[in-house]
Amino acid sequence: MYTQLEQRGMAEPPVNVSTLVQMKAQGEPIACLTAYDASFALLVDQAGADVVLVGDSLGMVIQGHDTTVPVTVDDIIYHTRVVARGLRRAFLVADMPFMSYSSQSQALENSVRLMQEGGAMMVKLEGGAGQIGIVEHLAAHDIPVCAHIGLKPQSVHKIGGFKVQGRDAEKARKMVEDAHALEEAGADIILLECVPNELGKAVRAAVSVPVIGIGAGPDVDGQILVLYDILGITRGRVPKFVENFMAVADSPFEACQRYVQAVKARDYPAPEHCFS
Ligand code: KIV
Repeated sequence: MYTQLEQRGMAEPPVNVSTLVQMKAQGEPIACLTAYDASFALLVDQAGADVVLVGDSLGMVIQGHDTTVPVTVDDIIYHTRVVARGLRRAFLVADMPFMSYSSQSQALENSVRLMQEGGAMMVKLEGGAGQIGIVEHLAAHDIPVCAHIGLKPQSVHKIGGFKVQGRDAEKARKMVEDAHALEEAGADIILLECVPNELGKAVRAAVSVPVIGIGAGPDVDGQILVLYDILGITRGRVPKFVENFMAVADSPFEACQRYVQAVKARDYPAPEHCFS
């Protein structure tokens, strides 16, 4: 019954928010990947990923849409539930889809669904200053939150495409400020997408919670990539920060292991994956 207490004695106990904070404090890079089904979840978990995200990227890589906008809360719940069945050690984060957190009550209701019906241990939402009240409200109800800043794919139609963010000094300053405000509001993790290396470093310096980067350079606390990108099966052009680990592996499992090892050894991201 007291599974959590029993698990503490295991050689590799399940990752939780405290583990992530401890990893940051000890300078151990946090390796994260997305997953969308039980088979890949098992494989990614066994390859050593610390965090598994059921991202709304599933709208693109699973459902074949051009953006993440059409993904629904029910889609995320379905995929979170099946991913949860494959995990043993990794910490499970689920994305809040587009417009599923436009008010405090809607955000609370949907994050409770992701946790109760999906089995998520943390929810991720895209937002800066405009979402402070939402993050505060979730944190006040003990919902663990990952705040996604930088390139926010749900805003693609507003920003006019998937572009590097924070290249001008004012926008960079605002992003650092937002990261700090989100932490103050109760965010447990900051996810930073597609920004110059220097900004990745500045955001990390501005907050005490773990900063996970995707195209945010090497000076953050961990890295995340979309599983299908590292397996080289994403259709069309892939972003500069992606590395196809399948190109040097004999199996999808080995590709995931190589990714985790590269993150832990700080071999990934290399200069060719970074923005200036
Ligand atoms: O939806 C997703 O998979 C994400 C990652 C790319 C960070 O948000």
